[in-house]
Amino acid sequence: MGKSKRTLGLLALCFLLGFCGCADKQETGSETHPEAGVTGEAGATHTPAGNVSPEQSPTAGGTAEPSGAAAPTGTTEPSGAAAPTGTTEPTGTAAPIATQKPTATPKPAVTAAPQKPTETPKPSRPTTGQTPTSALTLTPTQGVKLGTSLYKRYEGYFYFGTCVSASYLNNSKVTELLLEQFNSITCENEMKPDALLNQYQCQSQGKVVVTVPSNTKKILDWAKKNGLKVRGHVLVWYSQTPDWFFREGFRSDGALVSREEMLSRMESYIKQVLNYCDTNYPGMFYAWDVVNEAFTDDGTGYRDCNWYKILGEDYITEAFRFARKYASSGTKLFYNDFNTYINYSDKIKTTRICNLVKELKKENLIDGVGMQAHLDVSYPSADDFVKTVTTFSNLGVEVQITELDVTTTASAAGWKQQGEYLDRIFSALEKNDRTGVCNLTSVSVWGIADSYSWRASQDPLLFDDNLKPKAAYYSVLQQ
Ligand code: XIL
Repeated sequence: MGKSKRTLGLLALCFLLGFCGCADKQETGSETHPEAGVTGEAGATHTPAGNVSPEQSPTAGGTAEPSGAAAPTGTTEPSGAAAPTGTTEPTGTAAPIATQKPTATPKPAVTAAPQKPTETPKPSRPTTGQTPTSALTLTPTQGVKLGTSLYKRYEGYFYFGTCVSASYLNNSKVTELLLEQFNSITCENEMKPDALLNQYQCQSQGKVVVTVPSNTKKILDWAKKNGLKVRGHVLVWYSQTPDWFFREGFRSDGALVSREEMLSRMESYIKQVLNYCDTNYPGMFYAWDVVNEAFTDDGTGYRDCNWYKILGEDYITEAFRFARKYASSGTKLFYNDFNTYINYSDKIKTTRICNLVKELKKENLIDGVGMQAHLDVSYPSADDFVKTVTTFSNLGVEVQITELDVTTTASAAGWKQQGEYLDRIFSALEKNDRTGVCNLTSVSVWGIADSYSWRASQDPLLFDDNLKPKAAYYSVLQQ
């Protein structure tokens, strides 16, 4: 389970691309840079992209600036959309999905956004007759009372989840640990547009064709079988969305399409994905990230991307309108972003998100804010992070921590610091959620163990490379 080491060549390439300190990630199967698009089976693009500044998304265009300093000024802007990709050949593994919504699927209820405590979904694993088995012999390394399961610890308050990539399911120790600790999962890459959009099919049929690859089905079938709930990630994003999707004839060299055509493509994509989920996995998706990372951290506001270029700033509202139209009533709609707690001088991301939520709430289009929470032990302060959870909750929407990881130095001291940092965060969150100060309905970590993380070199997760719990685990467990 050891981490693979970067090669000199890869290191040089990382620097060339601006990915300072790229971390190799243990992964099976093909590793494709998001920009390289889908090849063969529309599989996961699994790009190692570590050592990023706090809560930065390094996925797009390789433009993330290296930042050793974990300070607000070190936050970086990924930019641009994925580069044009080659035509994807049909593989036979990805069947076109159903386009009809089952008539029994209830339409979204037009009610006020849910408020705690009565309307907050109470997470629990549906009864499947399957009892999670113990994959671990937990050792209370810090003299903390022994706990056994993250999701059981927070049952009744919020879901506790992790992202999962298809390769996780090849390792029975990993799947045992997953079932023991979590009652929610998010596909790490397998439900992103570049995984579900098939260029060959779109071109040959002359319309948006969503295909669901076997890796995606593998995860979703496994979740269904084991009674896990799923966060859908992600419908509209500037990154990991093929550039050809925005172009005439779905051609990599085509001109950008008109506003009317793009709205029609957006609707078709959202409809197909949500209908597929409802039809094949009814009741399993409790949340969808409808729009991801639309705002910049600085004063410029909206991120410049193909969605923005073609549709302007209301692409966000349009996406939520379509999502509300096609999502079943049990599926909550989220705006998801990183650096959500940045709010000072010209960096007013929290306020921007609040303003968006207020606008979308007027049409009952949004149910919550997803805080990615790619944090670092030195930034942001636990206090600022926790306060932001409350700020969003006070808008009358749910808050979900969607991609939690905390980078630190890979050392005993670093792990200790990480444990202390997470203790500060979770002691406050646990209390705030219990007492109704915040409306936290789900917390997900971004990976099962350090070696599986997209920021693997900075040991950001709760379990070590041998799947043993770290101090960070006991801190999150709060026992
Ligand atoms: C990351 C995945 O973890 C990587 O495997 C992939 O190469 C790039 O994307 N914000 C998001 C997530 O919303 O989808 C990103 O996931 C991390 C940043």
